[in-house]
Amino acid sequence: MGAVKTVLALGDVIGQSGFRAVVTSLTGIRKKHGADAVILNVENTADGFGITEELAGKLLAAGADVLTTGNHIWRKKEVREYLDRQEFILRPANYPGGVPGHGSCVLERRGLTLGVLNLQGRRRMPQTDCPFKLGREFVRRLRERTHCIVIDFHAEATEEKEALAMYLDGEVSAIFGTHTHIQTADERILPKGTAYITDIGASGPIDSVIGFQPDISIQRSLTQLPLRNEVSDNRAAVHGVRIEIDPASGRALSIVRIREESLI
Ligand SMILES: [Fe+2]
Repeated sequence: MGAVKTVLALGDVIGQSGFRAVVTSLTGIRKKHGADAVILNVENTADGFGITEELAGKLLAAGADVLTTGNHIWRKKEVREYLDRQEFILRPANYPGGVPGHGSCVLERRGLTLGVLNLQGRRRMPQTDCPFKLGREFVRRLRERTHCIVIDFHAEATEEKEALAMYLDGEVSAIFGTHTHIQTADERILPKGTAYITDIGASGPIDSVIGFQPDISIQRSLTQLPLRNEVSDNRAAVHGVRIEIDPASGRALSIVRIREESLI
């Protein structure tokens, strides 16, 4: 076994508050955990919906190696051309063929060759191609280059997330969920060596309803009116996981939850 490699996966950056927290704390978080690579989901960065080239550039400069996204990636139209150009920002791989951007990449960092794949669920989500069949095909192609592969599965339903994890157990190093914004406590190594957690949590405001203003969510629940969510802007916490990988086999050795409260 070669030197153990450490990958951090950090959750959905939500609005200004989440962006500030990540930009100011990422260098420290990288150092504290001895990270060889950092994957960051950014699909709620621009006012809660989508990402811009400018914000993505700042997050990459702050120490994120690969940016993953999800269903809100299409909100800012101008980002589409950037998705084609920037190798290390991903949109879910299982959108129909021909849409802008790409769903996987291979990163070389500190002696680690890491495949990163972004998939999206289909339960209470936009209807995309099958994340199971397409996911396995993408994994097969990535394994021609490396056995160290992590998947951001951007999905709503726990059952779908656990099913995909069991389906690909042993073929990838880790599968972590994003999108629901609340960190779950079910992190574990699956029987064939894949690390798994249903949701890594968000990097966003603490006093909020999944990152958004509580008043609006309460009113929406009380009235059933289609009120539009707006991001909260109070102090944030950065959530995620640290995954240790044996680079020779690609098997996960550990998965540990991370929570760092921002000071601003
Ligand atoms: Fe999402």
